[in-house]
Amino acid sequence: MEKILVLDFGGQYNQLIARRVRDNHVFAEILPYTTPLEQIKNANYKGIIFTGGPNSVFDPASPHYTKEILDIGVPILGICYGCQLTAWMAGGEVKTAPSSEYGKITFKHMGESVLFQDVPELSDVWMSHTDYIATPPTGYEIIGKTLDCPVAAMQNKEKKIYAVQFHPEVTHSAFGAQMLANFLYHICGCKGEWVMDSFIETKVAELRETIGDKQVILGLSGGVDSSVAAGLLSRAVGKQLTCVFVDTGLMRKNEGDEVEKTFTTLFDMNFVRVNCGEHFMQALKGVSDPEAKRHIIGTEFFKVFWDEIRAHATKGYFAQGTIYPDCIESGKGDADVIKTHHNRVKTPEDVEFLGILEPLCDLFKDEVRAVGEKLGIPKELVWRQPFPGPGLGVRIIGEITAEKVKILQDADYVLRDEMAKNGYEKELAQFFCVLPGVSTVGVMGDHRTYDHLIAIRAVTTDDFMTADWAKIPYDILAQVSNRITNECAHINRVVYDITTKPPATVEWE
Ligand code: XMP
Repeated sequence: MEKILVLDFGGQYNQLIARRVRDNHVFAEILPYTTPLEQIKNANYKGIIFTGGPNSVFDPASPHYTKEILDIGVPILGICYGCQLTAWMAGGEVKTAPSSEYGKITFKHMGESVLFQDVPELSDVWMSHTDYIATPPTGYEIIGKTLDCPVAAMQNKEKKIYAVQFHPEVTHSAFGAQMLANFLYHICGCKGEWVMDSFIETKVAELRETIGDKQVILGLSGGVDSSVAAGLLSRAVGKQLTCVFVDTGLMRKNEGDEVEKTFTTLFDMNFVRVNCGEHFMQALKGVSDPEAKRHIIGTEFFKVFWDEIRAHATKGYFAQGTIYPDCIESGKGDADVIKTHHNRVKTPEDVEFLGILEPLCDLFKDEVRAVGEKLGIPKELVWRQPFPGPGLGVRIIGEITAEKVKILQDADYVLRDEMAKNGYEKELAQFFCVLPGVSTVGVMGDHRTYDHLIAIRAVTTDDFMTADWAKIPYDILAQVSNRITNECAHINRVVYDITTKPPATVEWE
Protein backbone atom coordinates (compact mmCIF):
# COMPACT_ATOMS: atom_id res chain seq x y z
CA MET A 1 0.00 0.00 0.00
CA GLU A 2 1.36 3.43 -0.90
CA LYS A 3 1.84 5.62 2.13
CA ILE A 4 3.11 8.99 3.21
CA LEU A 5 4.98 9.71 6.42
CA VAL A 6 4.02 12.80 8.39
CA LEU A 7 7.09 13.37 10.54
CA ASP A 8 5.87 15.15 13.63
CA PHE A 9 7.86 18.08 14.99
CA GLY A 10 5.17 19.09 17.46
CA GLY A 11 2.95 21.36 15.37
CA GLN A 12 -0.71 21.85 16.17
CA TYR A 13 -1.96 20.88 12.68
CA ASN A 14 -0.19 17.53 12.38
CA GLN A 15 -3.29 15.38 12.45
CA LEU A 16 -4.85 17.75 9.97
CA ILE A 17 -1.95 17.21 7.56
CA ALA A 18 -2.49 13.45 7.73
CA ARG A 19 -6.23 13.97 7.22
CA ARG A 20 -5.62 16.13 4.15
CA VAL A 21 -3.32 13.51 2.65
CA ARG A 22 -5.98 10.87 3.22
CA ASP A 23 -8.57 13.15 1.60
CA ASN A 24 -6.50 12.47 -1.52
CA HIS A 25 -6.95 8.72 -1.00
CA VAL A 26 -3.36 8.25 0.06
CA PHE A 27 -2.66 6.61 3.41
CA ALA A 28 -0.71 8.83 5.82
CA GLU A 29 0.78 7.93 9.14
CA ILE A 30 2.21 10.23 11.79
CA LEU A 31 5.46 9.33 13.55
CA PRO A 32 7.44 11.42 16.03
CA TYR A 33 10.71 13.09 15.04
CA THR A 34 12.47 10.57 17.28
CA THR A 35 11.77 7.76 14.77
CA PRO A 36 15.09 6.28 13.58
CA LEU A 37 16.09 6.92 9.97
CA GLU A 38 16.58 3.20 9.37
CA GLN A 39 12.91 2.59 10.22
CA ILE A 40 11.83 5.32 7.83
CA LYS A 41 14.05 3.96 5.04
CA ASN A 42 12.66 0.46 5.46
CA ALA A 43 9.04 1.55 5.35
CA ASN A 44 9.00 2.43 1.62
CA TYR A 45 7.20 5.73 1.95
CA LYS A 46 6.19 7.44 -1.27
CA GLY A 47 6.89 10.78 0.39
CA ILE A 48 7.60 12.48 3.70
CA ILE A 49 6.06 15.65 5.12
CA PHE A 50 7.93 17.52 7.85
CA THR A 51 5.31 19.21 10.02
CA GLY A 52 5.32 22.59 11.64
CA GLY A 53 6.25 23.05 15.27
CA PRO A 54 6.44 25.79 17.89
CA ASN A 55 10.24 25.79 18.16
CA SER A 56 13.14 27.59 16.58
CA VAL A 57 15.83 25.65 14.70
CA PHE A 58 18.49 27.69 16.55
CA ASP A 59 17.48 26.19 19.86
CA PRO A 60 19.58 23.03 20.38
CA ALA A 61 16.74 21.62 22.49
CA SER A 62 14.22 21.92 19.67
CA PRO A 63 13.35 18.83 17.59
CA HIS A 64 15.92 18.23 14.85
CA TYR A 65 16.52 15.33 12.51
CA THR A 66 19.57 13.84 10.87
CA LYS A 67 20.24 15.62 7.56
CA GLU A 68 20.80 12.27 5.88
CA ILE A 69 17.04 12.09 5.48
CA LEU A 70 17.43 14.57 2.62
CA ASP A 71 19.48 12.01 0.69
CA ILE A 72 17.41 8.85 0.94
CA GLY A 73 15.70 9.54 -2.37
CA VAL A 74 12.18 9.96 -0.97
CA PRO A 75 10.34 13.19 -1.91
CA ILE A 76 9.98 15.64 0.99
CA LEU A 77 7.66 18.52 1.72
CA GLY A 78 8.63 20.75 4.66
CA ILE A 79 5.87 22.85 6.20
CA CYS A 80 6.49 25.92 8.41
CA TYR A 81 9.03 24.75 11.04
CA GLY A 82 9.62 21.78 8.73
CA CYS A 83 10.45 24.26 5.97
CA GLN A 84 13.02 26.09 8.10
CA LEU A 85 14.44 22.80 9.27
CA THR A 86 14.89 21.64 5.68
CA ALA A 87 16.84 24.81 4.89
CA TRP A 88 18.86 24.53 8.10
CA MET A 89 19.77 20.88 7.47
CA ALA A 90 20.77 21.57 3.86
CA GLY A 91 23.01 24.52 4.85
CA GLY A 92 20.73 27.48 4.08
CA GLU A 93 20.47 30.60 6.21
CA VAL A 94 17.59 30.89 8.68
CA LYS A 95 16.99 34.14 10.57
CA THR A 96 14.64 35.46 13.21
CA ALA A 97 12.47 38.34 12.01
CA PRO A 98 11.87 41.33 14.30
CA SER A 99 8.15 40.57 14.20
CA SER A 100 6.02 37.56 13.39
CA GLU A 101 4.07 37.06 10.18
CA TYR A 102 0.68 35.75 11.20
CA GLY A 103 -2.64 35.17 9.48
CA LYS A 104 -3.85 35.27 5.90
CA ILE A 105 -1.07 36.61 3.64
CA THR A 106 -0.85 37.02 -0.12
CA PHE A 107 1.59 34.54 -1.58
CA LYS A 108 3.20 34.84 -4.99
CA HIS A 109 4.69 31.82 -6.66
CA MET A 110 7.37 32.26 -9.27
CA GLY A 111 9.51 30.20 -11.58
CA GLU A 112 8.39 26.75 -12.58
CA SER A 113 7.23 24.31 -9.93
CA VAL A 114 5.02 21.25 -10.11
CA LEU A 115 4.01 22.05 -6.54
CA PHE A 116 2.07 25.06 -7.81
CA GLN A 117 0.49 23.47 -10.87
CA ASP A 118 -3.06 24.87 -11.27
CA VAL A 119 -2.44 27.43 -8.50
CA PRO A 120 -2.88 31.10 -9.52
CA GLU A 121 0.23 33.29 -9.31
CA LEU A 122 -1.25 35.18 -6.35
CA SER A 123 -3.26 33.44 -3.64
CA ASP A 124 -3.98 33.64 0.09
CA VAL A 125 -2.00 31.40 2.41
CA TRP A 126 -1.99 30.95 6.19
CA MET A 127 1.24 32.03 7.88
CA SER A 128 2.34 31.67 11.48
CA HIS A 129 6.09 32.17 11.98
CA THR A 130 8.87 34.41 13.26
CA ASP A 131 11.94 32.61 11.88
CA TYR A 132 12.34 32.64 8.11
CA ILE A 133 14.72 31.43 5.43
CA ALA A 134 16.98 34.32 4.41
CA THR A 135 19.05 32.38 1.88
CA PRO A 136 18.08 28.98 0.48
CA PRO A 137 20.70 26.20 0.59
CA THR A 138 22.84 25.50 -2.47
CA GLY A 139 20.86 23.55 -5.04
CA TYR A 140 17.54 25.04 -3.91
CA GLU A 141 15.66 27.73 -5.82
CA ILE A 142 13.13 30.20 -4.50
CA ILE A 143 9.69 29.44 -5.90
CA GLY A 144 7.53 31.78 -3.86
CA LYS A 145 7.52 34.82 -1.61
CA THR A 146 5.30 37.16 0.35
CA LEU A 147 5.79 40.83 1.18
CA ASP A 148 7.69 40.01 4.38
CA CYS A 149 9.05 36.59 3.58
CA PRO A 150 11.74 36.39 0.88
CA VAL A 151 11.68 32.58 0.74
CA ALA A 152 8.10 31.52 1.32
CA ALA A 153 8.67 28.43 -0.84
CA MET A 154 11.74 26.69 -2.25
CA GLN A 155 12.54 23.54 -4.17
CA ASN A 156 15.34 21.22 -5.11
CA LYS A 157 13.82 19.67 -8.21
CA GLU A 158 16.50 17.08 -8.66
CA LYS A 159 16.15 15.71 -5.12
CA LYS A 160 12.36 16.27 -5.12
CA ILE A 161 12.58 18.31 -1.93
CA TYR A 162 10.04 21.09 -1.47
CA ALA A 163 9.39 23.44 1.43
CA VAL A 164 6.72 26.04 2.16
CA GLN A 165 6.74 28.52 5.00
CA PHE A 166 2.93 28.62 5.13
CA HIS A 167 0.38 25.97 6.11
CA PRO A 168 -1.19 24.40 3.00
CA GLU A 169 -3.21 22.02 5.22
CA VAL A 170 -5.52 24.68 6.67
CA THR A 171 -8.53 25.87 4.72
CA HIS A 172 -7.41 29.52 5.00
CA SER A 173 -4.73 28.64 2.44
CA ALA A 174 -7.01 28.94 -0.57
CA PHE A 175 -5.05 26.58 -2.86
CA GLY A 176 -3.39 24.52 -0.12
CA ALA A 177 -5.37 21.42 -1.04
CA GLN A 178 -4.23 21.74 -4.67
CA MET A 179 -0.59 22.09 -3.55
CA LEU A 180 -0.83 18.96 -1.38
CA ALA A 181 -2.48 17.05 -4.22
CA ASN A 182 0.34 18.19 -6.54
CA PHE A 183 2.91 16.94 -4.05
CA LEU A 184 1.21 13.58 -3.65
CA TYR A 185 0.33 12.87 -7.26
CA HIS A 186 2.90 14.71 -9.36
CA ILE A 187 5.93 14.64 -7.07
CA CYS A 188 5.55 11.46 -5.02
CA GLY A 189 3.77 9.60 -7.84
CA CYS A 190 0.90 8.37 -5.67
CA LYS A 191 -2.09 6.75 -7.35
CA GLY A 192 -4.74 7.30 -4.67
CA GLU A 193 -5.60 3.76 -3.67
CA TRP A 194 -6.70 4.39 -0.07
CA VAL A 195 -10.48 3.89 -0.22
CA MET A 196 -12.78 2.47 2.44
CA ASP A 197 -14.02 -0.47 0.36
CA SER A 198 -10.54 -1.79 -0.06
CA PHE A 199 -9.81 -1.06 3.62
CA ILE A 200 -12.73 -3.30 4.65
CA GLU A 201 -11.70 -6.08 2.27
CA THR A 202 -8.05 -6.04 3.35
CA LYS A 203 -8.85 -5.75 7.06
CA VAL A 204 -11.41 -8.57 6.99
CA ALA A 205 -8.89 -10.87 5.26
CA GLU A 206 -6.19 -9.84 7.74
CA LEU A 207 -8.47 -10.48 10.74
CA ARG A 208 -9.47 -13.91 9.41
CA GLU A 209 -5.84 -14.81 8.94
CA THR A 210 -4.86 -13.71 12.48
CA ILE A 211 -7.88 -15.11 14.29
CA GLY A 212 -8.02 -18.47 12.51
CA ASP A 213 -10.46 -20.69 14.41
CA LYS A 214 -10.00 -18.86 17.74
CA GLN A 215 -12.58 -16.78 19.60
CA VAL A 216 -12.68 -12.98 19.90
CA ILE A 217 -14.22 -10.90 22.67
CA LEU A 218 -15.08 -7.24 22.23
CA GLY A 219 -16.44 -4.77 24.76
CA LEU A 220 -19.25 -2.90 23.05
CA SER A 221 -20.06 0.50 24.56
CA GLY A 222 -22.70 1.55 22.07
CA GLY A 223 -20.33 4.28 20.84
CA VAL A 224 -19.19 4.69 17.24
CA ASP A 225 -15.74 3.11 17.51
CA SER A 226 -16.60 -0.11 19.29
CA SER A 227 -19.72 -0.53 17.13
CA VAL A 228 -17.73 -0.26 13.90
CA ALA A 229 -15.06 -2.59 15.27
CA ALA A 230 -17.85 -5.06 16.10
CA GLY A 231 -19.28 -4.78 12.57
CA LEU A 232 -15.88 -5.40 11.01
CA LEU A 233 -15.07 -8.37 13.25
CA SER A 234 -18.49 -9.83 12.67
CA ARG A 235 -17.94 -9.68 8.94
CA ALA A 236 -14.57 -11.36 9.41
CA VAL A 237 -15.39 -14.19 11.81
CA GLY A 238 -19.15 -14.16 12.52
CA LYS A 239 -20.06 -16.31 15.52
CA GLN A 240 -16.46 -16.60 16.69
CA LEU A 241 -17.06 -13.04 17.95
CA THR A 242 -18.69 -12.38 21.31
CA CYS A 243 -19.63 -8.78 22.10
CA VAL A 244 -20.17 -7.87 25.71
CA PHE A 245 -22.40 -4.86 26.25
CA VAL A 246 -22.65 -3.58 29.81
CA ASP A 247 -25.84 -1.56 30.26
CA THR A 248 -25.24 0.61 33.31
CA GLY A 249 -28.75 2.04 33.17
CA LEU A 250 -27.10 5.42 32.63
CA MET A 251 -27.49 5.50 28.87
CA ARG A 252 -29.93 7.65 26.95
CA LYS A 253 -33.57 6.65 26.54
CA ASN A 254 -33.94 3.34 24.65
CA GLU A 255 -30.25 3.32 23.79
CA GLY A 256 -29.50 -0.08 25.33
CA ASP A 257 -32.38 -1.68 23.41
CA GLU A 258 -31.30 -0.04 20.17
CA VAL A 259 -27.74 -1.31 20.52
CA GLU A 260 -29.03 -4.80 21.25
CA LYS A 261 -31.43 -4.74 18.30
CA THR A 262 -28.75 -3.54 15.89
CA PHE A 263 -26.21 -6.15 16.82
CA THR A 264 -28.54 -9.09 17.21
CA THR A 265 -30.52 -8.50 14.02
CA LEU A 266 -27.99 -7.01 11.60
CA PHE A 267 -24.84 -8.87 12.50
CA ASP A 268 -23.75 -12.43 12.96
CA MET A 269 -22.16 -12.71 16.42
CA ASN A 270 -22.83 -13.72 20.01
CA PHE A 271 -24.25 -10.71 21.79
CA VAL A 272 -24.20 -10.60 25.59
CA ARG A 273 -26.05 -7.77 27.31
CA VAL A 274 -25.35 -7.33 31.00
CA ASN A 275 -28.16 -5.35 32.57
CA CYS A 276 -26.83 -3.86 35.76
CA GLY A 277 -28.78 -0.63 36.19
CA GLU A 278 -29.88 -1.63 39.68
CA HIS A 279 -26.38 -2.58 40.70
CA PHE A 280 -25.09 0.85 39.68
CA MET A 281 -27.96 2.60 41.41
CA GLN A 282 -27.11 0.77 44.64
CA ALA A 283 -23.42 1.58 44.32
CA LEU A 284 -24.22 5.26 43.78
CA LYS A 285 -26.76 5.58 46.58
CA GLY A 286 -26.16 8.64 48.72
CA VAL A 287 -23.16 9.80 46.67
CA SER A 288 -23.25 13.34 45.33
CA ASP A 289 -19.63 14.38 44.91
CA PRO A 290 -18.83 14.48 41.14
CA GLU A 291 -15.42 12.84 41.43
CA ALA A 292 -16.70 10.14 43.78
CA LYS A 293 -19.53 9.38 41.34
CA ARG A 294 -17.14 9.12 38.40
CA HIS A 295 -14.85 6.90 40.42
CA ILE A 296 -17.65 4.54 41.47
CA ILE A 297 -19.06 4.29 37.95
CA GLY A 298 -15.56 3.61 36.53
CA THR A 299 -14.64 0.97 39.11
CA GLU A 300 -17.98 -0.81 39.01
CA PHE A 301 -17.92 -0.85 35.24
CA PHE A 302 -14.46 -2.38 35.23
CA LYS A 303 -15.59 -5.07 37.69
CA VAL A 304 -18.82 -5.99 35.93
CA PHE A 305 -17.21 -5.93 32.51
CA TRP A 306 -14.26 -8.14 33.41
CA ASP A 307 -16.39 -10.58 35.41
CA GLU A 308 -18.41 -11.10 32.26
CA ILE A 309 -15.35 -11.35 30.04
CA ARG A 310 -13.81 -13.92 32.40
CA ALA A 311 -16.97 -15.97 32.05
CA HIS A 312 -16.53 -15.98 28.26
CA ALA A 313 -12.76 -15.96 27.93
CA THR A 314 -11.54 -19.05 26.16
CA LYS A 315 -7.95 -18.17 25.36
CA GLY A 316 -8.86 -16.12 22.35
CA TYR A 317 -8.29 -12.54 21.27
CA PHE A 318 -9.48 -9.36 22.94
CA ALA A 319 -10.61 -6.65 20.52
CA GLN A 320 -10.94 -2.91 21.04
CA GLY A 321 -12.27 -0.02 18.99
CA THR A 322 -9.11 2.07 19.43
CA ILE A 323 -8.80 4.62 16.65
CA TYR A 324 -5.78 6.43 15.21
CA PRO A 325 -5.83 9.63 17.31
CA ASP A 326 -5.73 7.39 20.44
CA CYS A 327 -2.46 5.85 19.26
CA ILE A 328 -0.47 8.70 17.79
CA GLU A 329 2.77 9.45 19.51
CA SER A 330 3.16 13.18 19.64
CA GLY A 331 6.42 14.91 18.81
CA LYS A 332 5.77 17.66 21.34
CA GLY A 333 8.71 17.95 23.70
CA ASP A 334 10.60 15.03 25.12
CA ALA A 335 8.61 15.05 28.35
CA ASP A 336 5.46 13.91 26.64
CA VAL A 337 6.68 12.17 23.55
CA ILE A 338 4.09 9.46 24.09
CA LYS A 339 0.54 10.50 24.88
CA THR A 340 -1.39 8.38 27.30
CA HIS A 341 -3.55 6.01 25.32
CA HIS A 342 -6.55 6.85 27.43
CA ASN A 343 -9.07 5.15 25.19
CA ARG A 344 -7.39 1.77 25.44
CA VAL A 345 -9.06 -0.57 27.89
CA LYS A 346 -6.88 -1.83 30.73
CA THR A 347 -6.86 -5.62 31.04
CA PRO A 348 -6.67 -7.20 34.51
CA GLU A 349 -3.61 -9.33 35.15
CA ASP A 350 -5.50 -12.57 35.65
CA VAL A 351 -7.13 -12.57 32.22
CA GLU A 352 -4.92 -13.84 29.44
CA PHE A 353 -5.46 -13.40 25.74
CA LEU A 354 -3.63 -14.59 22.68
CA GLY A 355 -3.37 -10.96 21.70
CA ILE A 356 -5.17 -7.63 21.37
CA LEU A 357 -6.87 -6.73 18.10
CA GLU A 358 -7.36 -3.08 17.19
CA PRO A 359 -8.79 -3.19 13.66
CA LEU A 360 -9.48 0.56 13.50
CA CYS A 361 -6.14 1.76 14.79
CA ASP A 362 -5.21 3.29 11.40
CA LEU A 363 -8.39 5.32 11.00
CA PHE A 364 -9.50 8.81 11.88
CA LYS A 365 -13.02 9.29 13.24
CA ASP A 366 -14.62 10.26 9.94
CA GLU A 367 -13.00 7.26 8.26
CA VAL A 368 -14.38 5.03 11.02
CA ARG A 369 -17.82 6.48 10.27
CA ALA A 370 -17.39 5.84 6.54
CA VAL A 371 -16.49 2.20 7.29
CA GLY A 372 -19.49 1.95 9.63
CA GLU A 373 -21.85 3.16 6.91
CA LYS A 374 -20.39 0.72 4.39
CA LEU A 375 -20.84 -2.11 6.88
CA GLY A 376 -24.53 -1.22 7.16
CA ILE A 377 -24.50 0.06 10.74
CA PRO A 378 -27.51 2.40 11.18
CA LYS A 379 -26.86 6.11 10.68
CA GLU A 380 -27.92 7.01 14.24
CA LEU A 381 -25.15 4.86 15.60
CA VAL A 382 -22.52 5.83 13.06
CA TRP A 383 -23.16 9.54 13.60
CA ARG A 384 -23.70 9.26 17.34
CA GLN A 385 -22.23 12.23 19.17
CA PRO A 386 -19.66 11.74 21.93
CA PHE A 387 -21.15 10.38 25.11
CA PRO A 388 -19.14 10.42 28.35
CA GLY A 389 -18.06 7.09 29.85
CA PRO A 390 -20.00 7.74 33.10
CA GLY A 391 -23.08 8.42 30.96
CA LEU A 392 -26.01 10.31 32.41
CA GLY A 393 -24.25 10.03 35.76
CA VAL A 394 -22.38 13.28 35.01
CA ARG A 395 -25.54 14.97 33.73
CA ILE A 396 -27.48 14.46 36.94
CA ILE A 397 -26.00 16.84 39.47
CA GLY A 398 -25.88 15.51 42.99
CA GLU A 399 -27.19 12.10 43.98
CA ILE A 400 -28.37 9.84 41.16
CA THR A 401 -31.70 8.06 41.57
CA ALA A 402 -33.68 5.90 39.16
CA GLU A 403 -36.41 8.54 39.11
CA LYS A 404 -33.97 11.30 38.12
CA VAL A 405 -32.52 9.11 35.38
CA LYS A 406 -36.01 8.64 33.92
CA ILE A 407 -36.80 12.39 34.05
CA LEU A 408 -33.53 13.24 32.33
CA GLN A 409 -33.91 10.50 29.70
CA ASP A 410 -37.39 11.73 28.78
CA ALA A 411 -36.33 15.36 28.41
CA ASP A 412 -33.19 14.45 26.50
CA TYR A 413 -35.25 12.30 24.13
CA VAL A 414 -37.42 15.31 23.23
CA LEU A 415 -34.37 17.49 22.64
CA ARG A 416 -32.81 14.87 20.36
CA ASP A 417 -36.05 14.47 18.45
CA GLU A 418 -36.37 18.22 17.83
CA MET A 419 -32.72 18.58 16.84
CA ALA A 420 -33.10 15.73 14.34
CA LYS A 421 -36.33 17.15 12.90
CA ASN A 422 -34.75 20.57 12.44
CA GLY A 423 -31.55 19.28 10.86
CA TYR A 424 -29.27 20.24 13.74
CA GLU A 425 -27.86 16.79 14.43
CA LYS A 426 -24.77 17.07 12.26
CA GLU A 427 -24.41 20.81 12.76
CA LEU A 428 -23.74 20.64 16.49
CA ALA A 429 -20.85 18.81 18.10
CA GLN A 430 -22.93 17.81 21.09
CA PHE A 431 -26.33 18.57 22.59
CA PHE A 432 -28.00 17.09 25.64
CA CYS A 433 -30.07 17.82 28.72
CA VAL A 434 -28.80 18.19 32.27
CA LEU A 435 -30.78 17.67 35.45
CA PRO A 436 -29.29 20.05 38.01
CA GLY A 437 -31.40 18.59 40.81
CA VAL A 438 -32.95 21.98 41.50
CA SER A 439 -36.69 22.44 42.04
CA THR A 440 -38.40 25.70 41.20
CA VAL A 441 -41.93 27.03 41.56
CA GLY A 442 -44.26 26.91 38.60
CA VAL A 443 -47.94 26.94 37.77
CA MET A 444 -49.88 24.29 35.88
CA GLY A 445 -53.60 24.79 35.36
CA ASP A 446 -54.62 26.47 38.58
CA HIS A 447 -52.07 24.63 40.64
CA ARG A 448 -48.76 25.66 42.08
CA THR A 449 -46.01 23.18 41.16
CA TYR A 450 -42.61 22.69 42.70
CA ASP A 451 -40.68 20.53 40.30
CA HIS A 452 -37.46 19.94 38.41
CA LEU A 453 -35.54 22.37 36.27
CA ILE A 454 -33.95 21.01 33.06
CA ALA A 455 -30.98 22.68 31.40
CA ILE A 456 -30.18 22.31 27.72
CA ARG A 457 -26.52 22.22 26.71
CA ALA A 458 -25.60 22.47 23.02
CA VAL A 459 -22.14 23.27 21.73
CA THR A 460 -20.13 23.76 18.58
CA THR A 461 -16.46 22.84 18.65
CA ASP A 462 -13.73 21.22 16.56
CA ASP A 463 -11.76 19.53 19.28
CA PHE A 464 -13.72 19.83 22.55
CA MET A 465 -10.77 21.65 24.14
CA THR A 466 -12.69 24.86 23.67
CA ALA A 467 -16.35 25.15 22.75
CA ASP A 468 -18.97 27.76 21.99
CA TRP A 469 -22.61 27.51 22.96
CA ALA A 470 -24.73 26.85 19.91
CA LYS A 471 -26.88 29.69 18.59
CA ILE A 472 -29.98 27.57 18.12
CA PRO A 473 -32.85 29.75 16.81
CA TYR A 474 -35.32 30.88 19.49
CA ASP A 475 -38.31 29.24 17.81
CA ILE A 476 -36.63 25.84 17.95
CA LEU A 477 -35.66 26.37 21.59
CA ALA A 478 -39.26 27.43 22.29
CA GLN A 479 -40.54 24.23 20.70
CA VAL A 480 -38.13 22.11 22.76
CA SER A 481 -39.16 23.90 25.94
CA ASN A 482 -42.89 23.52 25.20
CA ARG A 483 -42.56 19.86 24.44
CA ILE A 484 -40.41 19.08 27.47
CA THR A 485 -42.75 20.78 29.92
CA ASN A 486 -45.83 19.24 28.27
CA GLU A 487 -44.60 15.72 27.56
CA CYS A 488 -42.22 14.99 30.42
CA ALA A 489 -43.41 14.48 33.97
CA HIS A 490 -41.84 16.45 36.83
CA ILE A 491 -40.33 19.28 34.80
CA ASN A 492 -41.76 22.78 35.06
CA ARG A 493 -38.88 24.91 33.80
CA VAL A 494 -36.32 24.76 30.97
CA VAL A 495 -33.17 26.90 30.75
CA TYR A 496 -30.48 27.18 28.08
CA ASP A 497 -26.80 27.09 29.03
CA ILE A 498 -25.06 30.03 27.30
CA THR A 499 -21.54 29.49 28.59
CA THR A 500 -18.47 28.89 26.48
CA LYS A 501 -15.66 26.48 27.37
CA PRO A 502 -13.60 27.86 29.08
CA PRO A 503 -14.63 28.96 31.66
CA ALA A 504 -17.28 26.19 31.77
CA THR A 505 -16.77 22.62 30.57
CA VAL A 506 -19.11 20.93 28.12
CA GLU A 507 -20.48 18.51 30.70
CA TRP A 508 -21.73 19.94 33.99
CA GLU A 509 -19.77 17.52 36.14
P1 XMP B 1 -15.74 18.49 29.09
O1 XMP B 1 -16.91 18.36 29.99
O2 XMP B 1 -14.46 18.06 29.72
O3 XMP B 1 -16.02 17.47 27.90
O4 XMP B 1 -15.63 19.84 28.46
C1 XMP B 1 -15.30 17.39 26.70
C2 XMP B 1 -15.78 16.16 25.94
O5 XMP B 1 -15.43 14.98 26.66
C3 XMP B 1 -16.59 14.24 27.00
N1 XMP B 1 -16.38 13.71 28.35
C4 XMP B 1 -16.06 12.44 28.61
N2 XMP B 1 -15.87 11.38 27.80
N3 XMP B 1 -15.44 10.01 29.67
C5 XMP B 1 -15.57 10.17 28.33
O6 XMP B 1 -15.43 9.19 27.59
C6 XMP B 1 -15.61 11.02 30.55
O7 XMP B 1 -15.47 10.85 31.74
C7 XMP B 1 -15.94 12.30 29.99
N4 XMP B 1 -16.17 13.52 30.54
C8 XMP B 1 -16.44 14.36 29.51
C9 XMP B 1 -17.73 15.22 26.92
O8 XMP B 1 -18.98 14.58 26.68
C10 XMP B 1 -17.29 16.10 25.78
O9 XMP B 1 -17.56 15.49 24.54
